[in-house]
Amino acid sequence: MFTGLYSGASTDAVSGRAASTFPRDAQRAPQADASTDKTQLLTDAGHNAYTGACAQCHGAKGDGKGSFGVITSPPATDLTSPAVRSKTDAELFWMIKNGLGFTAMPAFSGLYQDADIVAIVGYIRQLQDGKGQPADIPVPSTELLTLADPGGDPAHRGAAVFFAQGCFRCHGGYGEAPGDFSIQDTSQAENVIRKGVPGMPAFDSTHISDSQIKDVITYLQSAAPSQEQ
Ligand code: HEC
Ligand code: HEC
Repeated sequence: MFTGLYSGASTDAVSGRAASTFPRDAQRAPQADASTDKTQLLTDAGHNAYTGACAQCHGAKGDGKGSFGVITSPPATDLTSPAVRSKTDAELFWMIKNGLGFTAMPAFSGLYQDADIVAIVGYIRQLQDGKGQPADIPVPSTELLTLADPGGDPAHRGAAVFFAQGCFRCHGGYGEAPGDFSIQDTSQAENVIRKGVPGMPAFDSTHISDSQIKDVITYLQSAAPSQEQ
């Protein structure tokens, strides 16, 4: 965002300074590309976070027609309506961060960092402009939900955590969601779950205990291969 400030500056002065202050940046692609990557990363983060945390109520397109959005009272807002368009980014940020009391609209400050919420606001603007790329929200089958058993063996306990924490909303019932949401590699899973990645909330120990993380990983490792056969 701030790269624009430098666009008219002398290249030598800028790269010279970057090289001494940020040695790793100096090896990267030219500035224009770097800022495009950054914008893309932010868009992806907003899109991912929106898909997993908002679409079930506000709809993948933001029209308020998510599967839960139509049954809450009041119903989930159409985020593409003129009323929401006319709100400032700061107003949307505040409502997402703090939620709206006495409605089904939750506060997301415990799940998402400010930067993620900024990315979500950006994604809502894209939906308003008809530029967002809505993702299908995976719905777990009844059969799949019966796998969830908090008192069962580790894989069944893990399934219970996976559904209760809403992991399936991004990753699909077995972690097999299409594209960017599919879970291919569980080697870093513990780290990813604790720290989050752009668009995926960090789940601290108040959300998922250490032993629950192990159960979830067992579930993902046992579920994924059986899906492929
Ligand atoms: C459980 C359902 C639910 C979820 C999940 C949810 N919302 Fe909402 N949201 C609502 C409801 C219901 C309202 C409307 C409250 C009202 O009419 O006063 C609302 C209102 C809003 C508003 C206020 C619109 C306005 O101008 O009045 C914004 C912005 C918003 N939601 C964004 C989000 C975002 C972004 C997410 C995900 C990070 C999200 N919501 C997740 C149910 C939900
Ligand atoms: C809001 C969407 C969202 C939610 C909710 C979510 N994730 Fe993720 N998760 C992502 C995204 C996006 C990635 C990055 C995928 C990539 O880069 O391949 C990711 C990556 C992962 C990875 C690493 C996958 C790999 O192949 O490297 C694991 C493991 C994972 N998530 C597990 C979970 C678990 C367990 C939960 C629930 C506690 C969860 N996620 C909830 C969006 C989400």
